[in-house]
Amino acid sequence: MKAQSFTQARQAAPAAHHGHPHESARLHVAGEATYVDDIRELAGTAHAALGLSTQAHARIVAIELDAVRAMPGVIAVFTAADIPGTNDCGPIIHDDPILADGVVHYVGQPLFAVVADSHEHARRAARRAKVSYEPLPAVLDPLQAKAQNSFVLPPMQLVRGEPAARLAAAPRRLRGSWQVGGQEQFYLEGQISYAVPREDGCIHLWCSTQHPTEMQHVVSHALGLAANQVVVEMRRMGGGFGGKESQSALFACVAALAAARLRRPVKLRPDRDDDFMITGKRHDFHYEYEVGFDDEGRILAARIEMVARAGFSADLSGPVATRAICHFDNAYYLADVDIRALCARTNTQSNTAFRGFGGPQGAVAIEYIIDSIARELGRDALDVRKLNFYGGAGRDLTPYGQRVEDNVIHELVAELEADSAYRERRRAITAYNAGSPVLKKGLALTPVKFGISFNVAHYNQAGALVHVYTDGSVLVNHGGTEMGQGLNTKVCQVVAHTLGIALAQVRATAADTSKVANTSATAASTGADLNGKAAEDAARRIRQRLADFVAQRHGIDADAVRFADDHVHAGAVAIPFAECVQQAYQARVQLWSEGFYTTPGLSWDRSTLTGRPFYYFAYGAAVAEVLVDTLTGEWRLLRADLLHDAGNSINPAIDVGQVEGAFIQGMGWLTMEELWWNKDGRLMTHAPSTYKIPAAHDCPAEFHTRLFRNSNHEETILRSKAVGEPPLLLGFAVLFALRDAVTAVGDGRSAPPLRAPATPEAILDAIDAVRAACAHTAAEPQP
Ligand code: MTE
Ligand code: MOS
Repeated sequence: MKAQSFTQARQAAPAAHHGHPHESARLHVAGEATYVDDIRELAGTAHAALGLSTQAHARIVAIELDAVRAMPGVIAVFTAADIPGTNDCGPIIHDDPILADGVVHYVGQPLFAVVADSHEHARRAARRAKVSYEPLPAVLDPLQAKAQNSFVLPPMQLVRGEPAARLAAAPRRLRGSWQVGGQEQFYLEGQISYAVPREDGCIHLWCSTQHPTEMQHVVSHALGLAANQVVVEMRRMGGGFGGKESQSALFACVAALAAARLRRPVKLRPDRDDDFMITGKRHDFHYEYEVGFDDEGRILAARIEMVARAGFSADLSGPVATRAICHFDNAYYLADVDIRALCARTNTQSNTAFRGFGGPQGAVAIEYIIDSIARELGRDALDVRKLNFYGGAGRDLTPYGQRVEDNVIHELVAELEADSAYRERRRAITAYNAGSPVLKKGLALTPVKFGISFNVAHYNQAGALVHVYTDGSVLVNHGGTEMGQGLNTKVCQVVAHTLGIALAQVRATAADTSKVANTSATAASTGADLNGKAAEDAARRIRQRLADFVAQRHGIDADAVRFADDHVHAGAVAIPFAECVQQAYQARVQLWSEGFYTTPGLSWDRSTLTGRPFYYFAYGAAVAEVLVDTLTGEWRLLRADLLHDAGNSINPAIDVGQVEGAFIQGMGWLTMEELWWNKDGRLMTHAPSTYKIPAAHDCPAEFHTRLFRNSNHEETILRSKAVGEPPLLLGFAVLFALRDAVTAVGDGRSAPPLRAPATPEAILDAIDAVRAACAHTAAEPQP
């Protein structure tokens, strides 16, 4: 066989269902990919910095800004009074001031913006303000907020069946409280906006955001402009992870305000510490639960109250709490349940979206409960998990009333259990622990079921614009944003597949509010599902016009025209795609098209929290094995086995990357990333020096990741499944493997109260609790 060149091999690869490299991979590694801060600055560009509150809750008595104005290079200082439109950038409820007005609500809240001739000058000047405050009582703890009935939203509650009666009648019961911490998104590229005034009061904004349309709206409201006067452009983010869904707004508004007022380009790029201090994170959750079960561990009834730290304003806390409620079931059928969620108002950063959007916080709670049941009964937690999985008729209805019709959790877990040699390793670990007093191993397998779609039905729409140029090359623009997840690559694959051309012929452009209007956030993992379908629709329209044109020319039926291998096939004739396009252009055929998509079949009743919020579910499971030093609390992840359902994956290479990255990020959340506020409400972990995210070293030496062979039973884009967020929940396995290892310190029966993040400190606390419980049991007189 003749050897193929690399380019030939690339061209021969099918456009879809193939592991093509990320569309920008070459640019990423060469350092040539343009992020907002890489855009060559226009002449006259000024730089903004924010002055931040030092108080958690206080009335602003006076802000002295003369010293700021006197600093070198300072051009102007702006406060809330300078905002011509509304001083608000809240995404749903309008309780998010751009700049504090009268009262500050947390340490780090922006009070004013200083604009200078350089980034450095602006930052130095920002520190010179003299602000006098009159302190107000601050609430720093979500449980204290709950005690004071202080919430950003009314409580939400979903009750099915008769949980109280079934709990009372259950042969066995457990109750307890638990907590998981929050998590900083830690996108590698921080928040940034670059605003340029254009003619007639218009603004062009480059903004690192997952939601260009919302940035367009908040900027137009703040400046009192019409939406058609603001263009937001976004080529790529260096990570978003939910942190740039709503929280890019403040930076967008300040940059736009300064640009509009000064009539010159203004860039706002907070440094990492300020980014940490200003922006919201994943909500920490505090649980109180009660569960009734039988002697085998089958759950009969459950009740949970989840208190989430919303921070000072609502932001996206409502959708986060809703998703937590809709994921408390995870992969388990819960007949009689009472699920309550409270969004506690605290004088801290306003918490927001983070990969999974409350889903992880909901699901991890039932995993903790099941793990506790298993330990109480002395059973392997995997057996108790399996016993409770969603099943066939009678065991397939979620608490919110949606039927689970695509359940593959049984097959998926069975496959992973066998492939990872779970049972053999369980035996080996038991033997190891019996002979190892200090080092203890732990093992856990945890499942994932994650609902795909925005809970709010109208967000589930997308548009695209596809241009075919006369040389046969194609440009696609769509409503989604690229944050490293490979969305543009997948959308290009869909277009190439639809037109029967090589992927190399298709290029994606920056998201741009002047091209596709009224877009949704790229969030809830729906990016490829929605924008892929919209782009497919656009490509199909063009394909149809080309087919009609070719059919007429060659006197055949349009249905008989095929698009494959870079050719248009009309009977015996094969016309190169570019040639066909050129002919069609000469014949005045429209070679560009818009496309549109809405997800079918969704419904949601916000008052009862019931309906069909999700188009389908994505599934997965993970096995983790850890080794814990019980003297120091330090540990290592020895091995991880992941099996994840991406449906009929459009790009298996990108999807495996998403699965591995999400697993590590989930592990980081539950085991090492710790947010800590001091007694004055100042976040003390605001840089990599004090806030530890997983690094290359924390990846397991043995790391097996596979995609589960599946196809979406719904008609999604090329039958794939969303993959952005669901695998974050695979990280649960590490936490429960740690709990397993800690349990081995005692008699194996007590369930250690291991809080998350399970830092070495938390692990040592849990070990102490196990030892104390064992000592207590040993001291009790034998019956
Ligand atoms: N992957 C990378 N590399 N960077 C990111 O910021 N964000 C995650 C996920 N994967 C993210 C990522 C989150 S929070 C979501 S909602 C999805 O990607 C969004 O993209 P999608 O809908 O196209 O999957
Ligand atoms: Mo992802 S948290 O929905 O941006």
